[in-house]
Amino acid sequence: MDKKTTGLSDTFKRNTAPKSFTKNPIKGTKFTIAISSAKGGVGKSTFAMNFALALKIIGLKVGILDADIYGPSLPKMMSINEKPKSEDGKSMTPITQYGIQCMSIGFLVDKDTPMIWRGPMVTSAIKTFTQKVLWSDLDFIIVDMPPGTGDTQLTFAQEIKVDGAIIVSTPQEIALLDVKRGINMFDKLKVPIIGLVDNMSFFESDEGKKYNIFGEDGVEKVAKDYKKDFLGKIPINIDLRIAADSGKPLVEMNPDHKISRIFKEIATKVKESFL
Ligand SMILES: Nc1ncnc2c1ncn2[C@@H]1O[C@H](COP(=O)(O)OP(=O)(O)OP(=O)(O)O)[C@@H](O)[C@H]1O
Ligand SMILES: [Mg+2]
Repeated sequence: MDKKTTGLSDTFKRNTAPKSFTKNPIKGTKFTIAISSAKGGVGKSTFAMNFALALKIIGLKVGILDADIYGPSLPKMMSINEKPKSEDGKSMTPITQYGIQCMSIGFLVDKDTPMIWRGPMVTSAIKTFTQKVLWSDLDFIIVDMPPGTGDTQLTFAQEIKVDGAIIVSTPQEIALLDVKRGINMFDKLKVPIIGLVDNMSFFESDEGKKYNIFGEDGVEKVAKDYKKDFLGKIPINIDLRIAADSGKPLVEMNPDHKISRIFKEIATKVKESFL
């Protein structure tokens, strides 16, 4: 057979080969950790803020990047009402609150303005937040991800070096389906999963009776099935919700609260696996 018609041409091979991406680390931090869940409203942002503050309490330098462009929670949960400064018109200085360096799209737009943006604009905002923010001398940046497996997740996975992901879920079956999708996404994108967290795990009455409102041990079982670490259970707790709504996360407001202690235990586990 004619040699020309046998093998695939170099151009064809080049065009069809799997794309390889250069992942840039976020400057100014040792490690970047994404807080993720495929499902919305399971407590990612609440976890991210309290976890960041718990890492601070155990002696680390921490930043929080709110990557939820359509629904930023950081300004409200951390009581930040100012705009970040820029010395040179190109880069931005994060706003420090409770000893944590913070950045959110919510600092730049009015809180009631909806972000009606197409995917490429979201990607460009994420790139700005990861490349043009002057994070300074951090051990960890905690990234509060939006729900789902969309543009933001893809941008992080392909273009930004993420050292690990924590998947937060509530334990009911319908949420667990999304956890499995989330695990598969990170495995596919080769982002190491640090572990799974069971949020709103159960409710404990004043008499100490436990109610497994969303089912029992669901997240832990998924972790076992997928051979991932299980980091802990956070119960449904009114103080946690009140603190989040008041703009001072519970771990900052009351570091000795039994829920704050759970966050500190999880923070210690994560610290030990990196430092
Ligand atoms: N363990 C908990 N106990 C009580 N309330 C909780 C708990 N976890 C989260 N909440 C409350 O549930 C609501 C949703 O939490 P949060 O905004 O953190 O979820 P999310 O996963 O970030 O949502 P989204 O997908 O929209 O980003 C908030 O009002 C928060 O205070
Ligand atoms: Mg959120």
